[in-house]
Amino acid sequence: MYNLAIVGATGAVGKKLLQVLNERNFPIRNIHFFASSRSEGKTINFQNKNIVVETIKESSFQDIDIVFCSATNEISKKIGPMVRNAKSILIDDSSVFRMDDDVPLIVPEINPEDIDGHTGIMSIPNCTTTPLVMVLNALKEFAKIVKVNVSTYQAVSGAGSAAINELNKQLEEIVQNKKPTISVFTHQIALNAIPQVDIFEKNNYTKEEMKIVNESRKILHEDMLPISATCVRIPTAIGHCESVSVEFDEDIDLSKIIDLLSHQSGLIISDLDDILKYPTPLNTENDHNVYIGRIREDLATKKGLLFWIVADNLLKGAATNAVQIAETVILRKKIQARI
Ligand code: A2P
Repeated sequence: MYNLAIVGATGAVGKKLLQVLNERNFPIRNIHFFASSRSEGKTINFQNKNIVVETIKESSFQDIDIVFCSATNEISKKIGPMVRNAKSILIDDSSVFRMDDDVPLIVPEINPEDIDGHTGIMSIPNCTTTPLVMVLNALKEFAKIVKVNVSTYQAVSGAGSAAINELNKQLEEIVQNKKPTISVFTHQIALNAIPQVDIFEKNNYTKEEMKIVNESRKILHEDMLPISATCVRIPTAIGHCESVSVEFDEDIDLSKIIDLLSHQSGLIISDLDDILKYPTPLNTENDHNVYIGRIREDLATKKGLLFWIVADNLLKGAATNAVQIAETVILRKKIQARI
């Protein structure tokens, strides 16, 4: 049994973390919830106990074994050293530590052994990286990958509760013939598509696009993986989609590729028997797996493959992966159980 802390317990991912810990029967001795001062003193019912939400103090993690953080980059930066000092383990959903050499970036189905080199912090990949690498991990067994090009269609929940509220409010305002209020995104998101997720970097790619590039390389241990991305925010609530083109150094063999994809743990091909059963955000919501469909040869090159991926960004994109990391930490004996 373990003492846990959830930082950001009131947020979009935080709420899902509670759901997943409960569903997977995580061995919890006690659990503490942290959020901002706005939520201090509120109670959250978890496993039939009303638990009071606290704000973070210097001593907050002293008696904690695993801290899950899904708050903000600033909070992760602040608590990283606190968790390390407390000799606890931080499983962090922010982007601040992901590319640090001493921070494992983990998708348990792919690189669980990377956990062994941890120094108190391990990161969850970006919610678009995880589904993509689950597929690329299977495909790299087919032949050398010479090019990956991905376009994403990302739900607003990836930007937190405020973004979900913004979409709902804008939809209501549109129905009422009012001017939609814009605050979280750069443009109106309702009835729109915004080719910008996160801020721009000097190379004209967005931070989100570069997260996909750099994180995929780190997780797959392929420093030179030739990959580029275009990330687009669309007005769906939950579920990130990705349209992907992969080129190999040899002609594709669809049956071999489908066989490899079928054997990737955590990945489901949904439209093999029925072409209309391709995955969508709505039909994969609240599911812990990554779904792939529309798998076909690229008409532009015999060495190319096209496909479509969808995953619940709050679950496998965040909370489920976080809890699976914690389970892997226990499995690999990187933490001592309490009685
Ligand atoms: P709160 O609900 O009190 O604002 P989301 O990603 O849905 O926006 O959620 C962000 C999470 O991070 C929420 O739980 C939010 O708490 C929490 N958070 C924001 N600021 C802080 C802070 N200063 N300390 C701890 N948690 C914070």
